Amino acid sequence: MLLLCLAVISLIASSLCAAVPARDSVSELQSVSTISTRNKLLLISFDGFRWDYDQDVETPNLDKMAQDGVKAAYVTPPFLTITSPSHFTMLTGRYVENHGVIHNMWFNTTTQEKKQYYDAQFVDSYWDNGSLPIWITAQRQGLKTGSLHFPGTAPTYTGETVMVRQVEPRFYNHSNETDWKMNIDKVIGEWFHKNDLDFVTLYFGEPDLAGHEYGPDSPERRKMVQQVDRTVGYIRNKIRDHGLTDRLNIIITADHGMSKVLRGGQVEEIILSKIPGFSFRDIQFQLLDYGPVGMLLPKEGMLEKVYKVLKVSHPHLHVYKKEKMPARLHYSNNPRLLPLILIADPGYIINGFFPVNYNKGEHGFDNEDMDMKAFFRAVGPDFKKAVAVDPFDLVNVYPLMCHLLGINPEINDGHLKHTKHMLVSTISEENYQMEVLIGLSALAGFLVLVFIIAISCSMWKGTRA
Ligand SMILES: *[C@@H]1O[C@H](CO)[C@@H](O)[C@H](O)[C@H]1NC(C)=O
Ligand SMILES: *[C@@H]1O[C@H](CO)[C@@H](O)[C@H](O)[C@H]1NC(C)=O
Ligand SMILES: *[C@@H]1O[C@H](CO)[C@@H](O)[C@H](O)[C@H]1NC(C)=O
Ligand SMILES: *[C@@H]1O[C@H](CO)[C@@H](O)[C@H](O)[C@H]1NC(C)=O
Ligand SMILES: [Zn+2]
Repeated sequence: MLLLCLAVISLIASSLCAAVPARDSVSELQSVSTISTRNKLLLISFDGFRWDYDQDVETPNLDKMAQDGVKAAYVTPPFLTITSPSHFTMLTGRYVENHGVIHNMWFNTTTQEKKQYYDAQFVDSYWDNGSLPIWITAQRQGLKTGSLHFPGTAPTYTGETVMVRQVEPRFYNHSNETDWKMNIDKVIGEWFHKNDLDFVTLYFGEPDLAGHEYGPDSPERRKMVQQVDRTVGYIRNKIRDHGLTDRLNIIITADHGMSKVLRGGQVEEIILSKIPGFSFRDIQFQLLDYGPVGMLLPKEGMLEKVYKVLKVSHPHLHVYKKEKMPARLHYSNNPRLLPLILIADPGYIINGFFPVNYNKGEHGFDNEDMDMKAFFRAVGPDFKKAVAVDPFDLVNVYPLMCHLLGINPEINDGHLKHTKHMLVSTISEENYQMEVLIGLSALAGFLVLVFIIAISCSMWKGTRA
């Protein structure tokens, strides 16, 4: 008899479960509602905007943006802390060793050919190395995307490019505020308003250039930060004028910071040709004179010799065999990296034959150095207001953007848990609440049934007795 009762109970319980929407249909329901409420997203990068650049100059527009949105203490860029590698981390959520854009320069160690930053933008196979940038992923999931001057805009990725794009011209003046405004008018007025794009990336080459040329502590850099601040005000006004304020999220960040280069009598410079025992005759291919990081491919059988000589040559030069790079830098496991990697301490740069770099500011240093940290601000309908958040890694911007756009991310090295506390109400929270509700009602229904059946069972037993 007891067995019969149990069978009845489980039968009823299972039909009850079937009546409750299964997990899959709940998330389907959820993603449909996400799409209907999805806001547009604008990702802006101001190249080389160090995390603290707003602290020694008036920035009323950035301050207003922080009041209306989110400000992070800083973000930690990936290593190598230079422009193309770091921007591609923003676009893919992958560390540099995993996305493969390991340097601003493209090179071939066999032919000795090198391409500088601008020309390297057009080498498809360099960028399209197994990691898809967010534009392509978003397009494949039905969104409309655009990019203006953002590094990585020019290449074709598995046969696709970003839908609407403006690639920067070869000899472009990156500092002209009038041009900046024209670009903003195009992105807000044309791309978002008229063409109804969902996601756009927008790049500005400053204050990087001012930081390099005059140094991060110079009045020229401060002046450029004021130009950036006016531009942020201009962008937000344009968005308001087009009635997009409540439908458009803005993330403003940067690829790296800037550090003052020590010169003259201040320091003993690192010049490889002057190091006793070192000879360029032992080197098959070199990537030097590019700030604080260099790479060497020694000739066959010369690796140990070159390594041993350089290792002890200068107190501010660190030399690693590629596979012995500190794991936290994520700059080791990629076939494009050369066998020897040289990294200088902040303040120093690595010269080859003789000094050719007279910049007052440089980046490329270890991403733990505070001077390499970048700024991060966000504002819009999905972001909390007047919130200051702790620092996080730039790789985490990618899952945040995918979440805001309601798209499934590719495999990446970031995680939403590091950024989702900036958002007013996250989809996963709603999901969680819904599931708890369904779980509780199912349990309550089940208990009521057990109660009824138990009673009727005992009544039935009673009548028989
Ligand atoms: C470098 O050049 C050689 C010789 O032309 C070629 O075989 C090789 O594929 C090239 N490597 C890359 C990464 O372009
Ligand atoms: C990435 O590039 C390397 C050469 O630089 C090549 O050997 C490798 O096959 C590429 N991987 C993908 C997935 O494109
Ligand atoms: C770029 O434009 C600015 C004005 O917006 C000007 O001051 C600067 O000299 C120009 N730079 C070059 C290299 O032409
Ligand atoms: C700045 O850009 C505007 C618009 O492209 C152009 O008319 C002007 O001549 C530029 N100014 C300088 C100094 O290059
Ligand atoms: Zn940069």
